[in-house]
Amino acid sequence: MGFLLDSDIDELCSSLGESARDFAGRRILITGARGFLGRYFTDVFLRLNAKVLKDPCEVIALDNMITAGQLGADLPKDRSFAFVNHDIIKPFYPERPVDFVLHAAGIASPYYYRKWPLETLEVATTGLKNMLELAKASGARLLFFSSSEIYGDPDAAHVPTKESYNGNVSSLGARACYDESKRLGETLIRIYHEKFGVKGMIVRPFNVYGPGMQKLDYRVLPNFAAKILANEAVTLYGTGKQTRTFCYVTDAIRGFLQVLLKGEPGEPYNIGNPSPEISMVDLVKTIQTSTNLTVKANIAEHPDSYPADEPQRRCPDITKARIQLGYEPKVALDEGLRRFFDWAQGAYK
Ligand SMILES: NC(=O)c1ccc[n+]([C@@H]2O[C@H](COP(=O)([O-])OP(=O)(O)OC[C@H]3O[C@@H](n4cnc5c(N)ncnc54)[C@H](O)[C@@H]3O)[C@@H](O)[C@H]2O)c1
Repeated sequence: MGFLLDSDIDELCSSLGESARDFAGRRILITGARGFLGRYFTDVFLRLNAKVLKDPCEVIALDNMITAGQLGADLPKDRSFAFVNHDIIKPFYPERPVDFVLHAAGIASPYYYRKWPLETLEVATTGLKNMLELAKASGARLLFFSSSEIYGDPDAAHVPTKESYNGNVSSLGARACYDESKRLGETLIRIYHEKFGVKGMIVRPFNVYGPGMQKLDYRVLPNFAAKILANEAVTLYGTGKQTRTFCYVTDAIRGFLQVLLKGEPGEPYNIGNPSPEISMVDLVKTIQTSTNLTVKANIAEHPDSYPADEPQRRCPDITKARIQLGYEPKVALDEGLRRFFDWAQGAYK
């Protein structure tokens, strides 16, 4: 079983249409390239080379492997792919200028950013600044992966949340190393655009899920899948009434590439699937009905390993990406859950 679904990669490549050709002959630097999204981008670019592009693109993959795990260590063997084990908190000087930088390095799972708060903060700030310097020197377009977490815990009047909402975030809370550093990262993008003309775009992803998430990722869906497939009860922290939205990975990757190619420099874009906004209790029920698996659930207090001040509701308003970029998520939650759990049944053995 591969680390993702072949049919998904093909579907995604064909849905990119003509814009795929913008990558022909280009050099693409990906940071965090052996993480969930970085591996996905890599596979999409290598598949475009195999099926669409006459003049192949080149992928330069940077990762220090801090959370890349077993799936990340399994490197593709392809002459258009080069891996460099590098901590991007230190500067990186490519041999030749690059055309695109996807700054996907980060410590994304609450379990890991609680464990490594300084590394989490630095990869989104110093690491990003190093990549902005590189983009400035190369004249590259850069995409920064911020997060929906920069909105903190919005009040009801700001859910679904637009990009113009300034957030309700604590600089001292247990999540601050992540959400405050992503906020500062956005400031850096804006400064580099205004001061040096660097074409840096910002995406704010809302809970991306799908094949390729590691069993020990500790984010909600891989965590649930690992438990359910081992016939163990899943644990819902707090009340179980907190809501999220979930965006299937093919929809998210298409949205990220649309922002990279067509987004306004210095501007943020929400990328996610606003429907349904679902509570954790209802998510468990939807997993059961869409996969036919038996799901047992408990409710418990937050353990020390998980930051307790989690947002109560999270749901994107994606009007800006819809209008400016034609972005539209296509995979419904029950269909995405079926694809993810089918894949996990083989991959999480
Ligand atoms: N997946 C989501 O739902 C989601 C949501 C919001 C934001 N994001 C952001 O998108 C980016 C990619 O997310 P992901 O799901 O692929 O995360 P991931 O944890 O699967 O991958 C991140 C990768 O970055 C690498 N990394 C961390 N620090 C590094 C450093 N200093 N130098 C080099 N490599 C380093 C890790 O080893 C890992 O392979 C992250 O910045 C994350 O914060 C993701």
